[in-house]
Order: sequence, then C-alpha cells, then structure tokens
Amino acid sequence: MQVHPTIAGTRAASRTARARGARVGLVPTMGYLHRGHLELIRQARERAQWVAVSLFVNPTQFGPTEDLERYPRAFERDVALCEGEGVDVLFAPSPAEMYTPGAQTFVTVEELSKPLCGAARPGHFRGVATVVAKLFHIVEPDVAVFGEKDYQQLQVIRRMVRDLDMPVEVVGVPTVRDADGLALSSRNQYLSREERDRALCLSRALASARDLVAAGETDAERVLERVAVILSEGTAELDYAEIRDAETLAAVQRIERPVVLALAARIGATRLIDNTMLTPA
Ligand code: PAF
Repeated sequence: MQVHPTIAGTRAASRTARARGARVGLVPTMGYLHRGHLELIRQARERAQWVAVSLFVNPTQFGPTEDLERYPRAFERDVALCEGEGVDVLFAPSPAEMYTPGAQTFVTVEELSKPLCGAARPGHFRGVATVVAKLFHIVEPDVAVFGEKDYQQLQVIRRMVRDLDMPVEVVGVPTVRDADGLALSSRNQYLSREERDRALCLSRALASARDLVAAGETDAERVLERVAVILSEGTAELDYAEIRDAETLAAVQRIERPVVLALAARIGATRLIDNTMLTPA
C-alpha cells in the first residue's frame, strides 16, 4: 500500500490504475477507523479492482465550538488496518494540501442540508459536500462508498453527484453495530463506560419505533412520542428525533411508505446520531 500526502501523487496513482483497466473505488474517512469503516472498504473492494481510502479530518465541516482539535486520531493504526484490508492507496493530506489559502469555492446542497443535523450544525454539510467533491476530483473514482449511519450526509452526497453530473456511483452501506446495538462511531470513544450503557437507548428507541410501525402505527407523532420516552429513560438529551421522507428528507406525518427515523442526542458531552428505516405493515 502506498501512503500519499499529496493531491498530485494520489491523482497520478489513480490514473495509472485506471489506465491499467482497473475500476477505481474510494472510501472517504476521517480516520480512527473501526469495523464500520472496514466494512466500507470491503464493499469498495467488491466493486473495484483498485481502492483508495482518504484519511482527512476535514476542518470545514466542524463548527467553531465543535471537537475538531480533540477528534480522535490514530494514524499508524489506521495505516495498518488499511494495509490489512488490501487498500491500494491511503490519501492522507494535511489541511494546507487540501485547502489553498484564500479558498472561496464551496459546494452547497441547499434544501437537503437544512433540517436535522444541518439545523444543529450550520455549515456542516457545506464542508462535507465541498471536501467530498474535492476528493472525487482528486481520486476520480468510479464508485465511492459511505456509511448509512450518516444518513443525511449520504443523501446530500447523492444529490450533489446527481446535480453536478459527477460520474461516480455512490454506494450506501448499512450501519455496523456492536452486539448490543450501539452504532459504531469514532466518537464512541469519548463515552465513559457508564455513558456507553446509557447510549444504548438510541438503538433501543429505533427498534421500538420499528416494532410500533410494523404493528400498524402510521401516526409519526405517536412514534416520536415513544422514541422520546425511551431516550429520556436513558437520560439522553434529545437534539432531534424526526421522521422524514427517505430521499427528500421532507417531514412526514403519516407513515404510508418506507421513511427514515433519524435522531441525534447527547450522552453527557458526546453528541451521537443514529437512524433506521420504518416500513409500514
Ligand atoms: O463521514 C465522514 O467521515 C466524513 O464526513 C467524510 C465523508 C469523510 C467527509 O469528511
């Protein structure tokens, strides 16, 4: 595996692979890799003969009071994990390599970026869309793989690709969970043991909502009431829990087709997100 800190080196490696006839895959990450990321890499491997992983803690998607400085980093371990998965190139640029001083061009996916995490984290999806667009220009992948845990992010990226005619297939991969249901996230490492136990109320609330809808409940408000009760039993501080159209993220009152239930909650100082599809009976 080659580790490239530069845009030029990464682009050259990708173009060489393509010239050999390889289909090019990309897995964008912010590092501190866990089993969820490894699953993304495996899914990319199944769809491409040459796979790049990017490792970049992207400053433009963090708000001024967020955890950019303390975001977990483990470069040597990430390199070893990527090597173990047969990754061809790890692109690990510095912020200066990714953003030239005075950069003033950004990608904004207007409506999809407004609700849910977009409301709580102004500018977040502009940062995500911009860095993913840049990564697509650098690696020029045929296929790019993202986790469904960041559901809104996945929809934002799909829409950007569609609206800007980017020749990239975007693949979403189901959330990988620990055996007790907790969705894997690099931010889980902020949780104390006691907070981790409390965090299980997120996946419990999602499972309970799924059961309620499968049993015939179609009123979104009633489903959200059940979710709020379970989250408050777990002493999670709710940021949002909303039921939305799975593609447009428009608000939904009646659950008459598959929809997404997305939530964000704080356990202590740690903000966690999770989601599930709700499929009517
Ligand atoms: O999901 C992430 O890790 C990041 O938001 C991404 C897609 C790598 C962009 O920085």
